[in-house]
Amino acid sequence: MYCTRKITDSVYWVGGSDRRLALFENLFPIPRGVAYNAYLILDEKTALMDTVDASIGAQFLQNVAHVLGGRPLDYLIIDHMEPDHCANIEALVLRFPQMKLVGNAKTFTFLSQFYGLDLADRAVVVKEGDSLPLGSHTLTFHFAPMVHWPEVMVTYEASEKLLFSADAFGSFGALDGNIFNDEVDFPSQWLDDARRYYTNIVGKYGPQVQAALKKLSALDIRTICPLHGPIWRTDLPWLLEKYDRWSRYEPEETSVAILYGSMYGDTENAANVLACALADAGVKGITVRDVSVTHVSQLIADAFRCSHLVLAVPTYNNGIYPAMLDFLHDMKALGLRDRTVGLIENGTWGPTAAKQLRAQLDEMKGMTVLEPVVTIKSALNEGALEQLHQLKDAILASMHG
Ligand code: FEO
Repeated sequence: MYCTRKITDSVYWVGGSDRRLALFENLFPIPRGVAYNAYLILDEKTALMDTVDASIGAQFLQNVAHVLGGRPLDYLIIDHMEPDHCANIEALVLRFPQMKLVGNAKTFTFLSQFYGLDLADRAVVVKEGDSLPLGSHTLTFHFAPMVHWPEVMVTYEASEKLLFSADAFGSFGALDGNIFNDEVDFPSQWLDDARRYYTNIVGKYGPQVQAALKKLSALDIRTICPLHGPIWRTDLPWLLEKYDRWSRYEPEETSVAILYGSMYGDTENAANVLACALADAGVKGITVRDVSVTHVSQLIADAFRCSHLVLAVPTYNNGIYPAMLDFLHDMKALGLRDRTVGLIENGTWGPTAAKQLRAQLDEMKGMTVLEPVVTIKSALNEGALEQLHQLKDAILASMHG
């Protein structure tokens, strides 16, 4: 049975949610599921904005048929050719023989690569700034390459000031009937998933996101309709500020993420002692994570949020504790930069992890390593505790300096 909602009198949400998928992109845990949004505009012509993932294809096709109410579908706008949004194109091509497909040159290359579809006779190939009139609505296409793939474009509808933003401004998380940001408590219920989505999926492309934000700043936008997560019709400046900050790799908070690996609890003890000492000194929003049991996508989100990181690990096989390596690799891959970092190493007979952590950080931009490095021999003792407090003082000084 169909399940749709109205965005405006002539624009409908025809997407859906998948609460069964464990790993988005077969990589990222999504315990709250994920929504795949698509939108249908009814005017003199009808236009569908993207499709959805194969997992909810049946629901989507019912939704489209219901909103069309027997009318033909005139246009499919393809803003993004990643399969979580384009998996139902062939089904639409077969159902609506008169339907034109609207995309850019790269869109149709990718369509052919993924599905072997040669639709040259039905393709409307658009360039930056081209418009498509539907009646009282007019769609204008703006390219947003690498937000998150090279073919991505966003579509603006001027009469109702709607921005169909592709992956931009999306979030992990299923939509539970409340599809609008003002129907949920976004800061407490959604922000963590939105941050984890942005930083891991699009985080590498900060400069491209900045370019897209600059382009969008020229548009008068009332509602943002992303391909994942809630639709934004209030508090747009709050959302745009988050994206601006994330894409400039600026921390959201002056706070500390203490990320530790610990074989027998001794390095964990140091992490907890430091966290309490920082809290006693007035630092708020501290996060302590065990890298062995926390998915790296969460560690990345923490690192984007916080101004300061403390990496605490045992020396293992004369190197860095393996569970920390994934995080360091992702930090480099995503281009995270400009953080202040404290180091804690542990080693019963030959602690060398801090030297190797520092070498990894040297390969990133703008990482400042604080002194002293804390060296623990097996378990915290008075000497290491003194170093830990010196590190706390250095963190506080860098926050206030
Ligand atoms: Fe939601 Fe880049 O696809």
